Amino acid sequence: MADAGAVRPLLPDHFRVRLRPDGVLEPPELDVAGYLACVEECRSRFPSLRILSGVELSEPHWHRPRADALLAAHDFDRVLGSVHSLPDGAHHRELTVVADRPPAELLRAYLGEVLGLVESTADFAVLAHIDYALRSWPGEGPPFVVGEFEEEFRTVLRALKASGRALEVNTKVPLPGEVVRWWFELGGEVVSFGSDAHEPALVGHGFREAAALVEACGFRPGPTPHDFWRR
Ligand SMILES: [Fe+2]
Repeated sequence: MADAGAVRPLLPDHFRVRLRPDGVLEPPELDVAGYLACVEECRSRFPSLRILSGVELSEPHWHRPRADALLAAHDFDRVLGSVHSLPDGAHHRELTVVADRPPAELLRAYLGEVLGLVESTADFAVLAHIDYALRSWPGEGPPFVVGEFEEEFRTVLRALKASGRALEVNTKVPLPGEVVRWWFELGGEVVSFGSDAHEPALVGHGFREAAALVEACGFRPGPTPHDFWRR
């Protein structure tokens, strides 16, 4: 991360993440105008593709004025909300770099923070990657057993249902099928899909398997491929 330039030498300076010597990360300003211009260019170059614009707000419940101002200034097709960090003293720590807490404790803390996000009135339509904490579950040691966290997942899903928002099935890592089944059982109405690709070649990765899972749980596609799926 500190040496991102070595990986992407063509990245302009204003895109580089600044990592201060004390370990605090200072992201650059979000270049929304540049992003939307890029979307427009892609739409004109590939008219047969349906390209939605979107933004993923990380912890918008901690940053309401900035998040609200961003959404007021731009008209995104999709707005996702998510949690990537947990409070840590005066700062916050990105979850995948927290190595000094047992994974089960970290997952419960994560789902607790996701509950705070979902119960907030932050403006977003889709909860992204409810299973983000599983990305750092250690390969050695006790395996992850989703049933051990059923109540925590159900609590978040119940609040998500009450908020009227959608559950994203993120295919970066396979979402345990039980979570989608619990979403249906609790009356969850809407599902969206995200491949969290970060690289063009990975867009849509895992969608076939994810769609089969979501369909098996009782949800159905909408009238067009880019619609949400519904029960
Ligand atoms: Fe994310």
